[in-house]
Amino acid sequence: MEHFKTIIEPFRVKSVEAIKFTRREEREQALREAGYNVFRLHAEDVLVDLLTDSGTGAMSAAQWGALMQGDESYAGSRSYYRFRDVVKELTGFKHVIPTHQGRAAERILFHSILEPGMVVPNNNHFDTTRANVEVERCEARDLVIPEGRVPALEHPFKGNIDLTALEETLQKDGERVPLVMVTVTNNTGGGQPVSLENLRGVRRLCDRYNKPFFLDACRFAENAYFIKRREAGQGHRTPKQIAQEMFSLADGCTMSAKKDGLANIGGFLAMNDDGWTESCRNLLILTEGFPTYGGLAGYDLEAIARGLEEVVEEPYLRYRIRSIEYLAEKLVAAGVPILRPAGGHAVYLDARALLPQVPPLQYPGIAVVNALYLEGGVRGVEIGTVMFGAHPDGTESAGPMDLVRLAIPRRVYTQSHVDFVAEVVIHVAERRQELRGYRIVEAPKFLRHFTARFQPVSA
Ligand code: F0G
Repeated sequence: MEHFKTIIEPFRVKSVEAIKFTRREEREQALREAGYNVFRLHAEDVLVDLLTDSGTGAMSAAQWGALMQGDESYAGSRSYYRFRDVVKELTGFKHVIPTHQGRAAERILFHSILEPGMVVPNNNHFDTTRANVEVERCEARDLVIPEGRVPALEHPFKGNIDLTALEETLQKDGERVPLVMVTVTNNTGGGQPVSLENLRGVRRLCDRYNKPFFLDACRFAENAYFIKRREAGQGHRTPKQIAQEMFSLADGCTMSAKKDGLANIGGFLAMNDDGWTESCRNLLILTEGFPTYGGLAGYDLEAIARGLEEVVEEPYLRYRIRSIEYLAEKLVAAGVPILRPAGGHAVYLDARALLPQVPPLQYPGIAVVNALYLEGGVRGVEIGTVMFGAHPDGTESAGPMDLVRLAIPRRVYTQSHVDFVAEVVIHVAERRQELRGYRIVEAPKFLRHFTARFQPVSA
């Protein structure tokens, strides 16, 4: 078998879910009624849903079986101890706090430790992470390496944090920095990995300036596999060993188990510090639940425990990373501008480069997202000026990039779905001159991309 080069899905399908085909007039109407915001669509009206890889994966037969083992005891549930042991074995952290998803871990951590005016450095904050820092009236400071800001530029570890810039922040604003975060893989920057060497550099700086170092670990397994493939001297190690080293360099992590936990819901906060853990647990009890379930059902804890074991298996990761590269290669071959190289969970179209006629404040990402839906029933998401262009003081400016993320749910779609998506994207790219921008007619103050309503800008 080792001689054949076709990389196949390392599973077979046991249960299927029909997807609905719609006519163009139906999609036009659905989009109009959704205020031209695909977050507001009925998911049923989407053919191939690449909005997110979060909570949308297919669980394995072993995970579904594990659900039946769930212990729903309010306190001290057996499922908690199984979950805790798996997380501890993987991460090495002393305390494990389950939460209902990643942003709950973020909120509990930040609300417990931040004071107004503090600064949190990160390679790139994801939207909820940034919002949870800003809502505490603190600054979320993005310090990704310069290569990470240029979509077309190839770099093996485009998610790396700029260690010189981090040191400057620690020197200048050190007293205001309660911790340093690094997001693996760097979702906002294109699902790009962070190298072990870079994580070691962060560790050294954190030791020198006496700061705790936390990972935003949502996609730790994909990051570990990139390290195996790309970092010198790592090829012989298992993804799990690499992941364990990544965690060993940090003092704690926030985690959304909806990504590399291979679960439909769940997350955790894990760390070594006893004092922070106590404050976080107290807040957890107030808003999420008792510390042995943290807002989850016992069966969710079982599904996550099993998912964390499956996600580091090499055949899975090889297929996972390859299936995304495959889509990227098709688009590059057709001349579609994308962020390069392909990310670990998604392909990111460079909407700013694709639609030079649409200025950032008319949201080229939204124009592309809506065209993909209208043409092919494919749902992606804007990661650009709508998501990151609004500031806490009410002003607006162009986001760092205008991307459209096509996130691939784990173990859900097959190669022919991906071929179809490539065809739709190429079709939209061929009609790029016809696309127009949008303006916002209604939006909330924080996380506006989820609920904003838009109107097309007239030609
Ligand atoms: N951190 C990163 C890097 C994320 O990508 C996400 C979620 C979170 C934290 C928050 O986790 O959703 O469980 O509360 N990202 C999803 C996405 C929503 O589509 O990329 P959550």
